[in-house]
Amino acid sequence: MTAPAPDSLTDPESLRERALNALVTARDRTALLTSCVEDPDLTAQHSPLMSPLVWDLAHIGNQEELWLLRAVAGREALRPEIDGLYDAFEHARSERPKLPLLPPAEARTYAAEVRGRALDVLESSAFRGSRLTEAGFAFGMIAQHEQQHDETMLITHQLRRGPAALTAPDPAPVEPFTGPAEVLVPGGPFVMGTSTEPWALDNERPAHRRTVPSFHIDTTPVTNGAYQAFMADGGYGDPRWWTPEGWDHIRTHGIEAPLFWRREGGQWLRRRFGVTEVVPPDEPVLHVCWYEADAYARWAGRRLPTEAEWEKAARHDPVSDRSTRYPWGDADPTPEHANLGQRHLRPAPAGSYPAGASPLGVRQLIGDVWEWTSSDLEPYPGFAAFPYREYSEVFFGPDHKVLRGGSFAVDQVACRGTFRNWDYPIRRQIFAGFRTARDGSS
Ligand code: AVJ
Ligand code: FE
Repeated sequence: MTAPAPDSLTDPESLRERALNALVTARDRTALLTSCVEDPDLTAQHSPLMSPLVWDLAHIGNQEELWLLRAVAGREALRPEIDGLYDAFEHARSERPKLPLLPPAEARTYAAEVRGRALDVLESSAFRGSRLTEAGFAFGMIAQHEQQHDETMLITHQLRRGPAALTAPDPAPVEPFTGPAEVLVPGGPFVMGTSTEPWALDNERPAHRRTVPSFHIDTTPVTNGAYQAFMADGGYGDPRWWTPEGWDHIRTHGIEAPLFWRREGGQWLRRRFGVTEVVPPDEPVLHVCWYEADAYARWAGRRLPTEAEWEKAARHDPVSDRSTRYPWGDADPTPEHANLGQRHLRPAPAGSYPAGASPLGVRQLIGDVWEWTSSDLEPYPGFAAFPYREYSEVFFGPDHKVLRGGSFAVDQVACRGTFRNWDYPIRRQIFAGFRTARDGSS
């Protein structure tokens, strides 16, 4: 059984307020990320892996125009000539700085004009009549899209050289975690995915039953300290721990530590949003690719969890036999549950957020770091692309690995127990770490 949608997710006035709040929260964050540096830093390419920040800004506006103004409200294009510039499939990220992009002031004006009209559409929406407007889906999709690009822009800020432009308070310190290192999840069926979460994206649907044999999963994400033990044990130099592709990749690119780390004076330092600091041992490891996560797990005599194992650990309540929206139940996240929404510019120490634990006691499944799983991105049985194939469908297959749970850089509108992210197994600039698992019988 999955949870029935609470009233706040179906009543029109609650939906209007929820959608307005999600759109405003996203735009406040976009404004911060695009006003904390001067114009040259908005148009520059800080990494060939990323778009210039000013591209993300206008692309956010353009997607909002396409879906809320043209698709939902049937309006004419404001600036039809720019659609191609901001179509993610027309130009690779590395090529975008050379395009005749809207300059920062024009990009801001364009996004603001779209937003003004979108709020008028929201004001008069009945949230009925089409799948796009049902339960305010299009508004939720566009708020999620903006927040996803806000995380992308935060990655660009992390890659950017130079002094810090962003600051945030650190998470509260906690006592070192002394609970059990792993949790046994009993074997049996559970409901994966959702058919009731109103703003769930197409790849999270539909809800379906999966049988998962018993397994053990780490209580917390793998920490920097644990990862440093793998490094100190020569993990990067021992092909036994690596898949052939992973070994080839780290050798070819001279990879011997997480991205942004450097060894100095007998200790590991890292660069984090323009500040260099000693790597904190009790914080979840960040900026490792899938190959590194996979190799660490093998070194530890373990493996990465499958996507189904991760979701069962995060959502299945063994007492009620129900799949909940989050590990702690169906309530929306609060700051007591999880490190989300760029409140902090780092993960919280392992063992934080006891109020966010699952019924079996697994912690920090939501927030802190995206968690690599062993699974390729595949459609669920009964998947139907909606509203566009390019959100998920064109990425299905063996090229992309699934990440779960969200990072400190994900807003709660784009984070839930069913949410699926994906990337290439070589990617390290994303805010990704991992936890490990092992079979229940061994
Ligand atoms: C789901 C995070 C992989 O950033 O490429 C943004 C989200 N899709 N615009 C991405 C997305 C279209 C996507 N990820
Ligand atoms: Fe996009």
